[in-house]
Amino acid sequence: MSIIIQDNVFTLQTKNSTYQMKADSKGILLHTYYGKKTDASDYSYLVSMADRGFSGNIYEAREDRTYSLDFLPQEFPVCGSGDYRVDCLHADLGQGVSDCLMFFDSYQVSKGKYALEGLPAMFAKDGQKVDTLEIVLKDSQEELYLHLWYGVFEAYDIITRAVMIENRTDREVRLHKALSACLDMDHDGMDLIHFYGRHAGEREMERVPLFHGITELRSTRGTSSHQHNPFVILAAQNTTEDSGECYGFSLLYSGGFHMQAEVDQFHQTRLVMGIDDCDFTWSLQPGEKFVTPEVAMGYSSTGLAKLSHCYHDSFQHHLIRSSWKDKRRPILVNNWEATYFDFDVDKLLKIAREAADLELDMLVLDDGWFGKRDNDDSGLGDWFVNEDKLGCTLGALADQVNDLGLMFGLWFEPEMISEDSDLYRKHPDWAMVVPGRNPIRGRSQLVLDMTREDVLDYIKERLFAIMDSANIQYIKWDMNRSVAAAYSTLLPRERQGELRHRYVLGLYHVMEALLMRYPDLLLEGCSGGGGRFDAGMLYYAPQIWCSDNTDAVERLHIQYGTSFGYPMSSVSAHVSVCPNHQNGRVTPFQTRGICAMQGTFGYEMDLSKLTLEEKAQAKEQIRTFKKRYRLFQFGDYYRITSPLENRDFTAWEYADKEGKEAYMGVVFTDLHGNPAAHSVKFRGLRPEGIYKMWKDNELTGEYTGAALMNGGILLPVPKENYDSCQIYISCQSIVEDVVRE
Ligand code: GLA
Repeated sequence: MSIIIQDNVFTLQTKNSTYQMKADSKGILLHTYYGKKTDASDYSYLVSMADRGFSGNIYEAREDRTYSLDFLPQEFPVCGSGDYRVDCLHADLGQGVSDCLMFFDSYQVSKGKYALEGLPAMFAKDGQKVDTLEIVLKDSQEELYLHLWYGVFEAYDIITRAVMIENRTDREVRLHKALSACLDMDHDGMDLIHFYGRHAGEREMERVPLFHGITELRSTRGTSSHQHNPFVILAAQNTTEDSGECYGFSLLYSGGFHMQAEVDQFHQTRLVMGIDDCDFTWSLQPGEKFVTPEVAMGYSSTGLAKLSHCYHDSFQHHLIRSSWKDKRRPILVNNWEATYFDFDVDKLLKIAREAADLELDMLVLDDGWFGKRDNDDSGLGDWFVNEDKLGCTLGALADQVNDLGLMFGLWFEPEMISEDSDLYRKHPDWAMVVPGRNPIRGRSQLVLDMTREDVLDYIKERLFAIMDSANIQYIKWDMNRSVAAAYSTLLPRERQGELRHRYVLGLYHVMEALLMRYPDLLLEGCSGGGGRFDAGMLYYAPQIWCSDNTDAVERLHIQYGTSFGYPMSSVSAHVSVCPNHQNGRVTPFQTRGICAMQGTFGYEMDLSKLTLEEKAQAKEQIRTFKKRYRLFQFGDYYRITSPLENRDFTAWEYADKEGKEAYMGVVFTDLHGNPAAHSVKFRGLRPEGIYKMWKDNELTGEYTGAALMNGGILLPVPKENYDSCQIYISCQSIVEDVVRE
């Protein structure tokens, strides 16, 4: 059993980590250990107690002035306990103050994994060992209960957490802050690694030392956002890709979030994470429960690459549900950058014929096929096919695409409404606008009130009708603005603070209904590119359009940042034309292909305009992806160099789990006269293996795994700006004594 309980000490064991809590003699749930795997000793001996100035004492401590929640490490700190650090819960029990104090009540252990109604959550699978621990805390005075849930994914060094807040009092409890998890550490000196960005520049990795005070990241945009990502890492300052301790925190939630990290007066570090509490309130009536989203915590004592593998593998097997997850993802061509809004059946079929000739798998019709939609000012909400524009029915288009041997996919933006739409003219109150005030527009559009059942019913009815009208195997689900100045006409004043979370619940409800009805549908998430790239979304969509920026060189940064917390099979990436539409850069066709193969792979261009040479290269890229997709989708991903540190080239690698084969992509990002030589080292190979190596498909020699990992290989000298190369190695035999020799 991965959960060991002795004298109110709760020890959670994974393959390489140990997590421990203890309900102490007063009943406070202390956090006593998280780190490298150890035994189930009671580590509370490490908690130091002292009579410290201005550190108050809870009444239950009686005369003991050394007992203070101001500095004790806790599992779920709440407001009102004399702990002045960042906390997880503000609950008004009826007096207008957010003070409560939670004590240990009971616990329960069960096999398998808890689920969260209406929210994404990791799950157990047959034959995989996952256990659940529930610890119940109760307020000192009132019948307010916290159910702290822990899911232990032993094989992956992942522990999930979520909280259910239960009101068993006879009056309303108002929540003002309800986060999902806290981690207390008894020391400082940690770096925070986080992923900030903007539209067309998502998930730029930044590593900063935490200082005394509070560092916070949040999204108040109603989505997880381009600006900050709900995945962060705490790493010891000497932690590298290959060594050192690090802790990951991934929130499985697609709405606004809040992460606070604080180093306190006694040099201790605390991190809390959960739903954004800015303007958040939730009215919990007697008998009602509130469930927070889940946080997946990961731990590695051997560096960042290992931590990423924990997330990649556990998400691949225990979060992504799609029937596509183990299959090769379709190589698709999307018409967005090829035609934008200007298309008809002939133009689309022209692209489709080229796609079929290149042996692609799918044509995706992007924005503009419905209502009045020739630009982004109108039409959203009118999900009726514009047959006049298309020149045929959607079914006829899909059939013709299918006849070419391709699957057919379609773009939707279900959460939105244009003021210039029939839907808005009929239901102006369906848009989330504050009555009597002018709306805040984003991309000229308003946001639908996803808290309303009639709105959700309309979206489902339209989605299902379109799905049933044509053979659609893929949907790109877009969301192209942030939520602002939002109001729901159906919620009373005192419940407007629930709107943003209810919105996300509405979104999840519709996606769930869609997937239940069409279980083989491949859903691709999107929000102006990667504005909603979070682990919650992966529960529904196994892949997410990573960024509207398709420039290969900027994608090196974006995909580098994304790789820390998300499997590469979830990273949607396409080859597009040059000069690039977002930044005007020109890169070689081969480089664009290599960068797009870092993800699910596809094209976003008018394939009929390819030159003969580009066509030949595209054929080669498609062959490579089809041949190597197992490595790309399921191999161990290594960041060989960081695009933030190495200006000359960026390299990454996929190694098969048994180290039998590996693929390395290299893009040269700077050129020099009389250049210095560059070498790179492989990772994840078998030292005693003999590997054959192909550089850009040319056999170049044989090396031992030991040589490739310890000595490395020399990279070719780039011949042009943004040149690239791909290196594939395959193990031919194993020579047991090669290392000793
Ligand atoms: C967003 C998406 C793009 C494209 C457009 C269509 O920006 O990220 O890929 O679908 O919308 O309007």
